[in-house]
Amino acid sequence: MRLNQCQNFHDFRRMARQRLPGPIFNYIDGAADDETTYRRNTEAFEACDLVPDVLRGVADVDMSVTVMGQKLAMPVYCSPTALQRLFHHDGERAVAAAAGKFGTMFGVSSLGTVSLEEARRISGGPQVYQFYFHKDRGLNRDMMARAKAAGVQVMMLTVDSITGGNRERDKRTGFAIPFRLNLAGIAQFAIKPAWAINYATHERFRLPQLDGHVDMGGGAMSISRYFTEMLDPAMTWDDVAAMVREWGGQFCLKGIMSVEDARRAVDIGCTGIVLSNHGGRQLDGSRSAFDQLAEIVDAVGDRIDVMMDGGVQRGTHVLKALALGAKAVGLGRYYLFPLAAAGRPGVERALEQMRVEIERAMKLMGCRTVAELQRRHLRFR
Ligand SMILES: Cc1cc2nc3c(=O)[nH]c(=O)nc-3n(C[C@H](O)[C@H](O)[C@H](O)COP(=O)(O)O)c2cc1C
Repeated sequence: MRLNQCQNFHDFRRMARQRLPGPIFNYIDGAADDETTYRRNTEAFEACDLVPDVLRGVADVDMSVTVMGQKLAMPVYCSPTALQRLFHHDGERAVAAAAGKFGTMFGVSSLGTVSLEEARRISGGPQVYQFYFHKDRGLNRDMMARAKAAGVQVMMLTVDSITGGNRERDKRTGFAIPFRLNLAGIAQFAIKPAWAINYATHERFRLPQLDGHVDMGGGAMSISRYFTEMLDPAMTWDDVAAMVREWGGQFCLKGIMSVEDARRAVDIGCTGIVLSNHGGRQLDGSRSAFDQLAEIVDAVGDRIDVMMDGGVQRGTHVLKALALGAKAVGLGRYYLFPLAAAGRPGVERALEQMRVEIERAMKLMGCRTVAELQRRHLRFR
């Protein structure tokens, strides 16, 4: 399969599957327990239909939005994800460059494989730094200071990963960082020599956001131990309130799902929340962000920027979320499979397809601006 044959999410996923060793493909593609939430995330968009207006003079469409103080040329952004250089040797560099080219925002994960400073230099556009809450409060402060010095505009604290999700595909393959594959997993690498050669001939795999804090390279720490030993399951709203004050800028919480928590986020001074179940990778059986969106927008939408992610594969999915009141929509696997399939050109092709789909759908809906998209454009079945 070739890049110019990829017309949609499913094609990119297929191409990624051909290129990646099985354990890595399954790390991206997999989710928790029975993966019901993962499936539900995309299905949720089918619970409602679009009701278009016609004859509205839609020769020019403006799909830009402003979210958390950042002007985005399109209403989607690349949500932060871990370990991107495992998927393609350019990793975060490719995503930062592609997001910059399309005038949108992207996130660098604290488990990212390129430094947030380097990503900042590449993109030029708005950048999110995603981090977790560590037991070591000094480390939390250091991470914020480093992000500030690098010129990051938005801090994003992920609050749905206080412990690791049960990813059974990873258990089966033995996927772990550092690699501790079982025999079946090693065989899967052996049959993808092109990936293995690329991986071996590029710079050593690192987690530069954690350099000096966690020795991954030497094998002293694994990602699963990072989650169980270094993150603080005792964290509370008071701890986060202190962080928000210390940052003193755009700060959002990723993984909010209840109205109660959305109100608390407003109370402690957050400027954004992302409704998310982490792509179904954490609490299986949890509700999809799209299903929960209207309720939360109604409760806090006038006081905080509400975003969502999970299961977005089409421009029409984005339009449905915007019509319910989301300020912007996050993409995860939508750009990760193209990254794995073809690096930067892959991510650019996927973002271009998304841009074209949103533009076409806005025209067909009779909407010239995102503000014109409203609840009356949706009917739930
Ligand atoms: C391979 C992979 C790695 C991820 N790593 C992180 C991470 O380090 N931090 C984080 O907050 N979210 C992470 N996520 C979750 C995404 O940011 C996003 O919430 C999710 O992928 C959205 O669902 P979607 O993939 O269906 O679009 C990851 C998701 C995937 C698929």
